[in-house]
Amino acid sequence: MKTYTVAVVGATGLVGQAIIDCLIDRNFPLSSIRLLASERSAGQSLLVGETMVLVEALQPESFAGVDIALFSAGGGVSEAYAPIAAQAGAIVVDNTSFFRMHDTVPLVVPEVNPDAIHQHQGIIANPNCSTAQLVLALNPIHKQYAITRLVISTYQSVSGAGKSAIDSLEKHTAQLMSGHSDAVPRHSIAFNVVPHIDSFLDNGYTKEEMKMVTEIQKILGEPSLPVSVTCARVPVFIGHSEAVTVETAQAIDPAEVRTLLANTPGVVVVDEPAILDYPTPREFSGQDPVGIGRIRQDLSVQNGIVFWCVADNLRKGAALNAVQIAELLVARQLV
Ligand SMILES: NC(=O)c1ccc[n+]([C@@H]2O[C@H](COP(=O)([O-])OP(=O)(O)OC[C@H]3O[C@@H](n4cnc5c(N)ncnc54)[C@H](OP(=O)(O)O)[C@@H]3O)[C@@H](O)[C@H]2O)c1
Repeated sequence: MKTYTVAVVGATGLVGQAIIDCLIDRNFPLSSIRLLASERSAGQSLLVGETMVLVEALQPESFAGVDIALFSAGGGVSEAYAPIAAQAGAIVVDNTSFFRMHDTVPLVVPEVNPDAIHQHQGIIANPNCSTAQLVLALNPIHKQYAITRLVISTYQSVSGAGKSAIDSLEKHTAQLMSGHSDAVPRHSIAFNVVPHIDSFLDNGYTKEEMKMVTEIQKILGEPSLPVSVTCARVPVFIGHSEAVTVETAQAIDPAEVRTLLANTPGVVVVDEPAILDYPTPREFSGQDPVGIGRIRQDLSVQNGIVFWCVADNLRKGAALNAVQIAELLVARQLV
């Protein structure tokens, strides 16, 4: 069997660690792995399967002999180094937002738009975490009922903002629990819900909200689909949740949607309100599938449903999707 040299850029981060786990868990055909991070981490070793591998400082020369480079070290790093990696012959799968809306860069969720991968010119983008989990459910609904409008509210975990955000939640929670509230910043996430992720734009939305709008449109191939999003951060460590209202051209029935989604790869339907069964982020943390529950009729429109969507943002929202793209490159002999 052919094997591949894979570089993980941002290997010491939350997504980088999850990428390493996914490569090992899914038996990706590795010939070798190169772990790259900032100067701060150079010289550390990380466990890859049963082997300790040295972390190296990212440099322009890091990509010699690399077949696939999985990037998750921030947009600035991708902007600077992804073209260098592609020039050196690697296929880049980028987890940051930097290339997602570039016309020449496919934005891929393998269960939804796998064929887009063939258009790559060296760089393939992974969507925003909230988008990746949601399009898995939206795609079959759109194919069957023709979505005409989406209204989405997210409840995003702190791990979506990297390892420093996890540290802040732990620290501020401890400070508030021990009565040191004056040490905690006003917008701390501890015991809070913060309706603000990424920077504000002139239209009153945040960048995170507009990323979801444009990325959903690009992946579904519907550039004019009306989508309205509110993104909030909640004091959950891992796992993003979303309340989703879907309006459709065709009459839509919750029972049919339940069956449709239960037969959709990558989706698990957990929807038995009578026994209080619905997906929650704590249960889906560390899991690959996207959980869908609370599927019900939208009582405010002619054709519409409402549902609840949960996934591990580090897995399907980032690392798993990136590794699935790498697997698709292998399966289609594109690498
Ligand atoms: N967290 C999520 O759910 C999620 C989902 C989708 C996409 N993403 C995107 O993935 C990226 C990483 O997210 P994360 O949550 O893993 O962040 P993180 O935990 O803060 O990790 C950041 C990683 O980037 C490395 N890094 C930072 N600056 C660098 C530089 N100048 N050169 C080389 N490496 C550098 C860090 O290395 P050191 O340890 O050496 O500092 C670390 O490995 C972000 O762009 C984020 O938007 C995250």
